[in-house]
Amino acid sequence: MSESNHDGVVLNGEAVDTGPASASGAGAVGAGAASADASGASAASNEIVVRIEDLRKSFGDNEVLRGIDLDVHRGEVVVILGPSGSGKSTLLRCVNLLEKPTGGRIFFEDTEITAKKTDINKVRAKVGMVFQNFNLFPHLTAKKNVMLAQQKVLHRNADEAARIAVEQLEKVGLGDRIDYKPSELSGGQQQRVAIARALAMDPHVMLFDEATSALDPELVRDVLSVMKGLAKGGMTMIVVTHEMGFARDVADRVIFMDGGFIVEQGTPEDVFDHPKSDRTKDFLGHIS
Ligand SMILES: Nc1ncnc2c1ncn2[C@@H]1O[C@H](COP(=O)(O)OP(=O)(O)OP(=O)(O)O)[C@@H](O)[C@H]1O
Ligand SMILES: [Mg+2]
Repeated sequence: MSESNHDGVVLNGEAVDTGPASASGAGAVGAGAASADASGASAASNEIVVRIEDLRKSFGDNEVLRGIDLDVHRGEVVVILGPSGSGKSTLLRCVNLLEKPTGGRIFFEDTEITAKKTDINKVRAKVGMVFQNFNLFPHLTAKKNVMLAQQKVLHRNADEAARIAVEQLEKVGLGDRIDYKPSELSGGQQQRVAIARALAMDPHVMLFDEATSALDPELVRDVLSVMKGLAKGGMTMIVVTHEMGFARDVADRVIFMDGGFIVEQGTPEDVFDHPKSDRTKDFLGHIS
C-alpha cells in the first residue's frame, strides 16, 4: 500500500546542488571515477552511485529481502523483474529509506544512508521516486504540483520554482498543460507530471516502481518514452516494470528477483534469451 506521499517527501530533503556528481565522490563506495568517455553504447560509468550490501528486511516474521547485494553505476539503467511479492518494491523503498532495513548496508554516493547519523532527508532529496499511483495534489495545477517540493525542500523562490516547473513539464511533453489540475489530465499525463516533479529536484538517481502499471495501454507509451529519454540522457535509474520491451531496449542490466533474493542478472540478452535459472524461465514464460 502506498501511504500517501503527499508532499512529495520521497523526492526530497534538504538543499541540493546537483551538478554532475563529483568524479571522486564514490569514496567509501569504492570504484573509480566516472569516465564520461567510456566506450560502449551504455552511458554507465565505473562510479558507483548506489551500493547495497547484504540488505535484509523483515516485516514481523516475514523476511522479504534476504540478502541483496547490488551496485548501481552512474548512468546505469537497472531493470528489476520478478513475481508479485518477491520484494521489488521493498527493495526500492529501502533505497530511499521509506522502509528501514533490518540488516545490511546501503550507500548513496559517499554516504552510508543506513548509518544512524545520516540525515535521511538530504539523501532523499537526491533520490527521485515515481510510483504506480502518481500522488499528485488534486487541488493544485500541474505547475504548482511541480513547484511545491522545490520550494518546501530546496527553498527555491516561487519564480525559480515556476521556471523550473515549466521547463520540466515541457520536457515531459506537457508544456500545454501546465495549468491543468490532475482531474483534467489523463493518467499518462498525471504520471508525467509526477516525473517532472521528481526531475525538478535534480535527482542523482531515479527509482520507478511500476510507473506504467496503472495506465491504459495507449497511455503507457508516452510515459515509457519519457523514461527512455531520461535513460538516454544518462540518468541513473532503477526501474521495476513489467514492460519487457522497455527492459530490452533500455536496460543495461536486468535483475530477476524471487523470494527476496536476486536469482539472476545480466544484460537483457542474457536474461531474456538465455535465462539460466528455472525460476527465471518460468517467470518469463508466464509473462511473454
Ligand atoms: N508494510 C508492510 N507490512 C507488512 N508486509 C509487507 C509490507 N510491505 C510489503 N510487505 C510484504 O513484503 C513482501 C514483498 O512485498 P513487495 O511489495 O516488496 O513485493 P513486490 O515484488 O513489489 O510485489 P508486486 O509485484 O506485487 O508489487 C510481500 O509478501 C508483502 O506482503
Ligand atoms: Mg511492488
